[in-house]
Amino acid sequence: MRYFIRTYGCQMNDLDSEVMSGQLAQMGMDLAHSEDDADVIVFNTCSVRETAERKVFGRLGSLAKLKRNRPDMVIAVCGCMAEEHKEQFFKRYPHVDVVCGTNSFDALPEMIAEAMDRRSKVARTGVDGEMELPFADARRSSGIKAFVSIMRGCDKYCSYCIVPFVRGPESSRPSNKIRDEIVQLAQKGFREVTLLGQNVNSYGRGIDENTDFPTLLEKVHDVEGIERIRFVTSHPKDMSPRLIQTIADLPKVCEYLHFPMQAGSDTVLERMNRGYTRSEYLGIVERLREKVKDIALSSEFIVGFPGETDEDFELTLSAAEDIRYDSAFMFKYSPREGTAAAKFEDDVPKEVKEERHRRLRDAQNRISTEIYTGLIGGEVEVLVEGPSRKDPSRLVGRTRDNKIAVFKGSHDFIGEIVSLRVEEANIHTLYCTLT
Ligand code: SAH
Ligand code: SF4
Ligand code: F3S
Repeated sequence: MRYFIRTYGCQMNDLDSEVMSGQLAQMGMDLAHSEDDADVIVFNTCSVRETAERKVFGRLGSLAKLKRNRPDMVIAVCGCMAEEHKEQFFKRYPHVDVVCGTNSFDALPEMIAEAMDRRSKVARTGVDGEMELPFADARRSSGIKAFVSIMRGCDKYCSYCIVPFVRGPESSRPSNKIRDEIVQLAQKGFREVTLLGQNVNSYGRGIDENTDFPTLLEKVHDVEGIERIRFVTSHPKDMSPRLIQTIADLPKVCEYLHFPMQAGSDTVLERMNRGYTRSEYLGIVERLREKVKDIALSSEFIVGFPGETDEDFELTLSAAEDIRYDSAFMFKYSPREGTAAAKFEDDVPKEVKEERHRRLRDAQNRISTEIYTGLIGGEVEVLVEGPSRKDPSRLVGRTRDNKIAVFKGSHDFIGEIVSLRVEEANIHTLYCTLT
């Protein structure tokens, strides 16, 4: 038997898919090359924007033919869209066999077995309750760097966002379990961990131990063998001075922060329920740059939020220009049913959203190119991850500040930290040579 997993969405889904891959391997299945030669197909889905959902619906529709030819195969829809649409999947796509929500992955093997044996539809959803996943068995895509889940869910309820509804309330994992997992990863040869949560800065709230995020960083910092620590995502509202100091003090914590601003106008930020103002955000960036020399920053923005005026948008653009992020993602607002913002009129015309998106993207592309090419001639420290997918004769890795670097060198360097000279650069890659 063979399985194939297709993953959409954010890093939480990437990690969940690695865990599911481990679960299916434990059932005795092998990895298939594509949907065409798989007995079990899993779609791990994302609800965050309509475009994300449309992609899933489209591909799922195209599986109907496959299923007609091979009725014994099992098709499972997992993750955020499973949680959002639940059993409706069976009505709209009768070839779907399993619907498994974000807080039910621990039961996925049983559900697939049940669908196979009894030829029945199986659904499990609902975001309440505890779930500890078999992370130790995860089949990870890299042997060098790993995602480590430190919490699930989100309690922030930004007005545009569906995540709290499809991922459930925020819940933190006990710090001992997190540390034990990282110790095991180090023993397997991993060198870098990225601590994952929708809002890592509020780690520790509501659990029976006196640990907050800076304390967790300290606690995992001394794990021998792990050379680099990263984390996503940081919410500006919970970015405490102590956390900034901890990033500055702990040598393994990399000089890079993903720090989504979303909008540069206070009225928009307020309607988004983000819990900070433009000047508070800028103040944190200033403090970060003071304490952590050369820290790289990245961001996310939504353009065309309900009621966003030209002036509001100019404030977003000027914030991005002033801060000069190393990279940023930008999205056109997409109303999500059930969220608070869905009740606001989606009044920014499509063309205006597109225009604002284009202007912000062009500005960011120019800034990223300037920052990357500005590194030419300098030296960077790179953790080598493996052969480059685009050109397997070259190796690829990342700098401490999270920039992709490629260079020619022996495969013996994989898993090592090397010092490279930047020879050329473009908007998202540094082309380097060994020093
Ligand atoms: N927890 C993270 C983000 C999770 S969602 C954070 O707080 O930043 C990833 C990104 O999708 C968000 O940062 C936001 O920019 C975007 N996004 C979320 N909901 C959206 C919507 N309804 N329309 C457009 N973009 C959205
Ligand atoms: Fe969504 Fe806001 Fe939570 Fe991020 S912090 S997942 S944007 S509700
Ligand atoms: Fe998408 Fe779910 Fe992540 S909605 S962004 S996959 S938490």
